Amino acid sequence: MERKSKCVSTKDMEKQKEFIQLVTDKHDGEMKKYYLNTFGCQMNEHDSEKLAGMLSNMGYIESDDVNDSSLIIFNTCCVREHAEQKVYGHLGALKKLKEENPELVIAICGCMMQQENVVSHINKTYRHVDLIFGTHNLYKFPELLFKSFNNNKTLIDVWDTDGKIVENVPVERKDGVKAWTTIMYGCNNFCSYCIVPYVRGRERSREIKEIEKEVMTLGRQEFKEITLLGQNVNSYGKDLPHKSSFAQLLHQLDKISGIERIRFLTSHPKDLSDELIYAMRDLNKVCEHLHLPFQAGSTKVLKEMNRGYTKEEYLELVMKVKENIPDISLTTDIIVGFPGETDDDFEDTLDIIKKVRFDSAYTFLYSKRTGTPAAKYENQVLDKVKKERFERLLNLQNSISKEINEPFLGKKLEVLVEGKSKTNNDIYTGRTRGNKIVNFEASDKDICKIKNVLIDNIRTWSLDGKIV
Ligand code: SAH
Ligand code: SF4
Ligand code: F3S
Repeated sequence: MERKSKCVSTKDMEKQKEFIQLVTDKHDGEMKKYYLNTFGCQMNEHDSEKLAGMLSNMGYIESDDVNDSSLIIFNTCCVREHAEQKVYGHLGALKKLKEENPELVIAICGCMMQQENVVSHINKTYRHVDLIFGTHNLYKFPELLFKSFNNNKTLIDVWDTDGKIVENVPVERKDGVKAWTTIMYGCNNFCSYCIVPYVRGRERSREIKEIEKEVMTLGRQEFKEITLLGQNVNSYGKDLPHKSSFAQLLHQLDKISGIERIRFLTSHPKDLSDELIYAMRDLNKVCEHLHLPFQAGSTKVLKEMNRGYTKEEYLELVMKVKENIPDISLTTDIIVGFPGETDDDFEDTLDIIKKVRFDSAYTFLYSKRTGTPAAKYENQVLDKVKKERFERLLNLQNSISKEINEPFLGKKLEVLVEGKSKTNNDIYTGRTRGNKIVNFEASDKDICKIKNVLIDNIRTWSLDGKIV
């Protein structure tokens, strides 16, 4: 097994171009199909767009049929146990395919692969896997793929620590209206339940110039909306030699023509500055939506989670945001059943939900992650209790989400038209600046345009209306 730390230079990128050529030559003009399954967050989705970009340069086209592909890739997530179990389930099912077609290449990458115990388990149990690589050497995919051809052992290349940021990896974006841009990698926060800092490394910010260049290109390519990605975008720039802030970055990006909306994920309450709140208030393109995970309501639990704020501080922060940006749409992440969470602690979680009134919330059952401090805490909450609390939380949040949507009835909202609805082909879908999903009748020529939609029906998670 190859485990090492490395720095990446432009020379390494040049080398990858040579491997792109070698893979292309090997296929001798024949178009190959690949099947790519992505688990986890938008960071992983965006990494998959980079894999797709490299694959398209190597003469591959995407297929949605696992049985009809010469390359199968799983880009994995390990934030909760359930995400890992899903990957193992899929991997087991591929054994037969590989037996029938020994030429098939099966590759796994992403966060799960950054854990040594996972890699050795896959290496022992799923011998039909050809290639394993991690999050820090994604750019090396063409070389690894080439080396895995005609190799009868599993090729493993996972780097322990993060290297430099690699720019100019080709990207093939799935969407033509909205684009993701990663502005920083890694996380320094080490919340006690979370595996991300161990699998994504320390915080590394991209240079403002590089981000600007990418967003300008996106503007020229007629993307209308960008979402800036990072595990904690509020600490963007702190590691750069000439230190810049996330708010400064927003000011720069707001000037770029073509782009009409700017969003970002994720904000950490302990780092959300006044400067950022004012930038959100003042910059036209920055949308009135803030995803601000609070994770738990009880100050005692927050301390054990190592979140760096109290219940009162979180509530004050939200108040400040609402005062400055009255039509802000707020969303959050919540963990239920963190070790030691009592009924009273959980009441504090419900209390925050009632006081803040989030537009929507992503709620998770606490999942024990080996290697994190919380996994060793003794007072784990019983599954039954976790599930009961989860249900109560969900019911409360759903009723609030619906209530928040009610005043939109009869209102005209600006909607960026994204395309046809996935569930009903006659209906088109888009989002408001506050990130509300709106469904309406439209035609293909409306895609990528901002339209006024009159809302005539309210649902818990979406609105219906007519273009006016
Ligand atoms: N960096 C972001 C997102 C991290 S992962 C942030 O800090 O908000 C997305 C969400 O997964 C987290 O916000 C948290 O709510 C949830 N999560 C992380 N680890 C978890 C665990 N061990 N069990 C349950 N949920 C978890
Ligand atoms: Fe995980 Fe906390 Fe970092 Fe978010 S801020 S990625 S929850 S350690
Ligand atoms: Fe999962 Fe990795 Fe994202 S663990 S949530 S895919 S950073």
